[in-house]
Amino acid sequence: MSAHSTMHRILVVGGGGREHALAWKIAASPRAESVFVAPGNAGTALDTRMTNVAIADDDTQALVDFARENEITLTVIGPEAPLAAGVVDGFEAAGLACFGPDAAAAELEASKSFSKDFLYRHDIPTADYAVFTDDAAAIDFIASLPPPIVIKADGLASGKGVEIAPDRPSAETAAQRMLADSGRIVVERYLEGEEASFMVMVDGTHIVPLASSQDHKPAFDGDTGPNTGGMGAYSPAPVVTDAVAERAMRQIIEPTVHGMAADGRAFRGFLYAGLMIDSDNNPRVLEFNVRLGDPETQPICMRLASDLVDLVEAGVNGDLNTLEPVWHDQVALGVVMASAGYPGSIEKGHAIRGLDAVDNTAIAFHAGTRLGDDDSVRTAGGRVLCMTALGSSIADAQASAYRGAAAIDWPGAWYRGDIGHRALERRQDL
Ligand code: AMP
Ligand code: GLY
Repeated sequence: MSAHSTMHRILVVGGGGREHALAWKIAASPRAESVFVAPGNAGTALDTRMTNVAIADDDTQALVDFARENEITLTVIGPEAPLAAGVVDGFEAAGLACFGPDAAAAELEASKSFSKDFLYRHDIPTADYAVFTDDAAAIDFIASLPPPIVIKADGLASGKGVEIAPDRPSAETAAQRMLADSGRIVVERYLEGEEASFMVMVDGTHIVPLASSQDHKPAFDGDTGPNTGGMGAYSPAPVVTDAVAERAMRQIIEPTVHGMAADGRAFRGFLYAGLMIDSDNNPRVLEFNVRLGDPETQPICMRLASDLVDLVEAGVNGDLNTLEPVWHDQVALGVVMASAGYPGSIEKGHAIRGLDAVDNTAIAFHAGTRLGDDDSVRTAGGRVLCMTALGSSIADAQASAYRGAAAIDWPGAWYRGDIGHRALERRQDL
């Protein structure tokens, strides 16, 4: 039997929309003998091709024990927290195949000061910055930057540790507050441009770029309101032209992967560069994530024509140079449906109506959902579903995703009405 026909027993770690999409794509592989999701959500519970396992995503010992007892041959970690907590280190110590960076490589996301210092040391384009542990020095640096000024808390903050201060006094206040909270902050120059998500798979050495994507981080229409984990996403992102993608690979991704290896932190896993692309098409790094984006993964998994098990296996074995993913030509777009109050404090426990009424042009990837005792699907988080559809154009995919969202209801359910607007404005022909 050739390596590419071995069957796998696969464990997906995490319980959000990204993990539902990964498990959905993995379960479609002829090479998936069994698919387990820890802890999963109602969406992965209801899909008969996969089984939820009640283990927290960062409980390394319980995950390793489960993988051993159930003869898991391939594990994929979705979220950043288990990566930063060293789940991959635990699997490697146990001799188990696991796709994701170890804790040392995960610092690229877990510590903003580590990642900014890394970018600077390796001459990779990013915003000018400085790292501070005391107020006076931070205030001096703030005085040297033109507003708006960006202040970031160090450490994992789920997108909530960043403040864009419109003027110096508010930058000083934000710096003092975040220093009191986290002890260490990054102050950086504001970058103009358009953001895009550039994600790749890395096996330590070789790099495979994934399709481009863009998400909408602000909560409300017109990209207004508080920052969220992402209210919707689509792929491809028209702003990422071939020329931009080529620069992102050459100026950012390749030096990052080589630099991490040279620093003794070889990176294996999904790597996500949040880019700001200026009007001259120059990409700069806003942040690294050491995992796939959520909700970007939902449209990307729908567009991926290749077998994800082949790709993940090659990622673990160091063979990514032998594979090139194939993408459907269609556009994919996902609309996040959220609970009342998100991204602040939210209501949970409402029964979700209409899931059966979604026509088969859209897929409701679940995020914050759980199965109630009566087998009803209940809300259990801020981002609840990501209604995702393929289409021949952005407008077409958008229409299908919104038709799906309109079929769903629970008390307080809401979503943005303009997901994809930047792509539509840029590409009138799409
Ligand atoms: P981060 O968690 O570092 O990606 O920051 C969250 C969001 O803040 C980003 O998606 C951007 O929209 C914005 N942001 C962060 N840093 C900058 C910057 N230097 N210039 C402009 N916007 C920024
Ligand atoms: N959607 C942004 C992220 O996953 O970080």
